[in-house]
Amino acid sequence: MAEVCVITGGGSGMGLAAAKFMPKTKTIIVAGRTEKKLEGAVKELKELGYKAFAKVCDTSNRESVRELAEYAAKHGEVKNVINSAGLSPAMSDPETILRVNALGTVYMNQEFSKVMKKGSVIVDIASNSAYILPNFLISTKVYKLADTDEELFVKKLLKKSNLAKSKGAYAVSGFAYSLSKNFVTWYAKKCAFEYGKNGIRVVSLSPGLISTDMGNLEAKDGGMLIPFSAEERMGTPEELGFAIATVADERNGYLAGVDVLVDGGSTNGMKEFKRKK
Ligand SMILES: NC(=O)c1ccc[n+]([C@@H]2O[C@H](COP(=O)([O-])OP(=O)(O)OC[C@H]3O[C@@H](n4cnc5c(N)ncnc54)[C@H](OP(=O)(O)O)[C@@H]3O)[C@@H](O)[C@H]2O)c1
Repeated sequence: MAEVCVITGGGSGMGLAAAKFMPKTKTIIVAGRTEKKLEGAVKELKELGYKAFAKVCDTSNRESVRELAEYAAKHGEVKNVINSAGLSPAMSDPETILRVNALGTVYMNQEFSKVMKKGSVIVDIASNSAYILPNFLISTKVYKLADTDEELFVKKLLKKSNLAKSKGAYAVSGFAYSLSKNFVTWYAKKCAFEYGKNGIRVVSLSPGLISTDMGNLEAKDGGMLIPFSAEERMGTPEELGFAIATVADERNGYLAGVDVLVDGGSTNGMKEFKRKK
């Protein structure tokens, strides 16, 4: 039976870069909202010798995610799911950011765990912005609502995002982004313990500032994280693609229930080692 690797956000950036580090024996399915982008990715992957398919999917829509999981299962055994779909503060409004980044992760993990078997892995892409939130904004009580009352979950996170209102619209989207990604790190951990008994490994991976389309857009005003990283630079999509593919590799079987921070040291730089005196 063919082994299938599904990558949401696989039409571009680090999702596509991760696909290129997967073994060529796997069938790759790239998913996202823009068909043309996905077709370009499939063409690139085929030229490299992969068996690849494109499937349009909006991860903020549960039905669309369910269709993706069914489509993937028809191609063989789903071994790797990389959920790289995401929107950054400069790309959208706070509610859409929360629905895609946070609820999208809920739908992906829930729907794919129904078709995955022992020895498979889900990698949810979070962000190092998950680490910069003040503690009072983080509430696992609110996070738990994602499984029981999605609308209240979004409403409560929007309310927290709006605390940045006095600093302008971008700051509110920024709070929504950080909250959505902090949630992803928590939710991936929760799922690891839930699905672990079925042999499904779940890990989140938090990139720092990476020179994809998204990263370049966020860095256009200077990239405030760059001076805090150990080498004072952005990461490349290829570096992240390799890190993601490594985490998603079945040989990494004991890596579960944690967030893997791949940010060139910028979180620790900001918290301690490069703090302005
Ligand atoms: N680049 C950075 O500096 C950075 C830093 C930390 C975390 N991240 C995270 O890393 C992940 C990958 O981002 P990237 O840097 O590789 O940027 P990217 O090239 O913009 O990739 C994001 C992908 O997500 C897809 N997407 C967006 N909304 C979607 C939805 N509702 N349903 C399905 N697909 C959707 C986009 O395709 P369509 O628009 O066609 O749907 C796009 O291909 C994201 O989760 C992002 O938040 C990035």
